[in-house]
Amino acid sequence: MNSTSGKEKDTIENQLWFDPSLCFIGNQWLPAKSGKLLDVYDPSTGEQISKISRGDQADIDSAISQAKFALSNEWGNSTAVERGRILYRIGQLVLENTDRLAFLEASDVGKPLKQAKADVSALARYMEFYAGAVDKVHGNTIPFLDGYTVYTLREAHGVTGHIIPWNYPMQIIGRSVGAALAMGNATVLKPAEEACLTALAFADLARQAGLPAGALNVVPGLGTEAGAALARHRGVRHVSFTGSVNVGKQIQTAAAQNVVPVTLELGGKSPQIVFEDADIDAAIPYLVNAGIQNAGQTCSASSRILVQQGVYKEVVHKMAERYRQLRVGPALQDRDLGPLISRRQKSIVEDYLEKGRDLPIASQGSIDADAPNRGHYVVPVLFSDVPPDHVLAQQEIFGPVQVVIPFVDEGEALQIANGTDYGLVASIWTRDGARQMRMAKKIRSGQVFINNYGAGGGVELPFGGTGLSGHGREKGFEALYGFSQLKTVAALHG
Ligand code: NAI
Ligand code: MG
Repeated sequence: MNSTSGKEKDTIENQLWFDPSLCFIGNQWLPAKSGKLLDVYDPSTGEQISKISRGDQADIDSAISQAKFALSNEWGNSTAVERGRILYRIGQLVLENTDRLAFLEASDVGKPLKQAKADVSALARYMEFYAGAVDKVHGNTIPFLDGYTVYTLREAHGVTGHIIPWNYPMQIIGRSVGAALAMGNATVLKPAEEACLTALAFADLARQAGLPAGALNVVPGLGTEAGAALARHRGVRHVSFTGSVNVGKQIQTAAAQNVVPVTLELGGKSPQIVFEDADIDAAIPYLVNAGIQNAGQTCSASSRILVQQGVYKEVVHKMAERYRQLRVGPALQDRDLGPLISRRQKSIVEDYLEKGRDLPIASQGSIDADAPNRGHYVVPVLFSDVPPDHVLAQQEIFGPVQVVIPFVDEGEALQIANGTDYGLVASIWTRDGARQMRMAKKIRSGQVFINNYGAGGGVELPFGGTGLSGHGREKGFEALYGFSQLKTVAALHG
């Protein structure tokens, strides 16, 4: 269970302690009922490295039965303190397995090792946070008519469905499954077909930590099969989804048939706004990193940089210098950027680059000469002087591409910042305190950072969007409210 000794050659076989071609249902490893499998590829090499189950409706049905079993047995009767202790133990096991989990994620998703380790640490932090928070979720007493006592209870929804993407599997498991388990829900997780290994690993660590059978079930498979089956299942009482806008609409439509709530986190076109009075040198690393982290495949990536005209040249010049130094290479070599997740994602990004051929390129990074040919590498590109209504300034690209847009004054900055259909994260760079407050109020966005930028911020900070970025809030205490329902109890005692 401990990390490998340095001598062993790092291969997927050495790092896996479970059979990834199975589903995890009711604390057991079971083959998909159809017996079908999907190939797992390493995006850094394009090579097949493993196999996972291609679960479908039948496996989702079993997972939901097991989740219901958990709710009517030990898990359903557990106290907040007991659940907190289990979550804390899961977090500790995650930390003890940092190297192994990071290796799996780097191989499966193409994420540079350092970034994969940061995801492991975030996953552990979610477990710690929700372990410590869950017994602090209080109800209220409400003054009412004479002779009454009225109070509220926070109760689990029941079975919750979690459909997650491939870009940050561990972080998204932490924020959604972690909060749902804390409140006593029984969870069914459908990880993305491109990235199931750490989800399965997490489930096994949860079992080892004492999570009762059925409280967490993992069914790998395709979105249109296992994902759709989960979203529309009548046994599911809440669905959380992170991914594309189109699939988000389908999830909400499916959940509406059962009249159950959804939490949707659908990405964005998040701006950073740099005013003339900003500390430019402090801003530059944030401006670039928030665009290229995870090769730009980040829902909260900052893909638009708005710069006031007086410092426009300086900012573009300094960002361009950084871009020239950016290196792209295999995940295990831990360069600034790894490959994109898939050939398909690479072609999406290349199509956007083609659409930007009329725009000035301020600077680009470079791909390591010895990076494997079949890896899904793209060069990070910084475009300057981009009109705010250009397709590259409007649509989520989900690759290492940033656009710089000039503006004249605060009013124009606000108009451009709010001029897309999204609203997930924004940041304001200025030393003017009044402007900080004004802008923070007027920007349409789920999170606003002042003189910094956190892609989603820490585990403590509520996160989610407006407009096409989705609705509902995850992370922090807010997630505990989202993953529970309020019951009002009114007693007439005279
Ligand atoms: P996607 O939305 O298709 O996939 C996300 C998850 O939804 C996966 O687990 C997938 O299996 C599942 N899914 C797909 N179709 C489904 C259906 N009909 N019913 C239920 N579940 C379904 O995203 P994809 O195709 O991987 O990426 C396409 C684009 O989506 C990206 O280029 C990016 O713009 C955006 N995206 C945004 C993410 C975010 O963090 N907000 C994450 C991943 C993608
Ligand atoms: Mg898809």
